[in-house]
Amino acid sequence: MSSPTSPPISLLWASPEDSKAIAALHAKLFPTAWDSDAIQALIEHPASLALIAARPGREIVGFIIAQIAADEAEILTVGVAPESQRHGVGRQLVDGVARAAARSDARRLFLDVAAGNAPARALYTACGFAEIGQRKAYYTLPGGARDDALQLARDLKPA
Ligand SMILES: CC(C)(COP(=O)(O)OP(=O)(O)OC[C@H]1O[C@@H](n2cnc3c(N)ncnc32)[C@H](O)[C@@H]1OP(=O)(O)O)[C@@H](O)C(=O)NCCC(=O)NCCS
Repeated sequence: MSSPTSPPISLLWASPEDSKAIAALHAKLFPTAWDSDAIQALIEHPASLALIAARPGREIVGFIIAQIAADEAEILTVGVAPESQRHGVGRQLVDGVARAAARSDARRLFLDVAAGNAPARALYTACGFAEIGQRKAYYTLPGGARDDALQLARDLKPA
């Protein structure tokens, strides 16, 4: 929920011109940054669904990128600027991509999340995902420790 003084946030399709701003935000949020060329290639991929959460003036405060293959979709990355977290933006992004994937005839939405990423796990639980598998010691954390990847999935309602 935004405060009465904060400008409204809109959910918009990401465009290739947003790649630099998305890459800058991604670098703030993840230990392994994706460069803007990689993000642009994902946005331009015909099977991609990429959304931004933006304030007026296209100030990007969140992003999500998913890909569709046949009747399955996968969230590749999602992030919300630290100062905009816990205001429902992450949930809007996940629900927005779920609706878009359902309209593209996807029946199930998948993702991987680090077992130690409590905020992301809480978001996905709130968005209706359930655990379907694990990859042991899949992620290398800063400092070299390992973390498991949890594979989550949620059914999509036909659009
Ligand atoms: C995970 C992330 C995208 C959540 O974004 P957000 O905008 O803060 O999430 P929301 O405000 O929409 O939260 C929706 C629900 O998720 C849960 N949740 C989200 N963040 C949480 C936290 N830090 N602690 C506990 N629950 C949390 C809550 O149930 C919340 O509902 P509530 O606020 O009504 O209690 C954000 O923390 C982030 O960008 N993290 C860094 C990048 C990252 O880890 N991405 C995911 C990779 S798999």
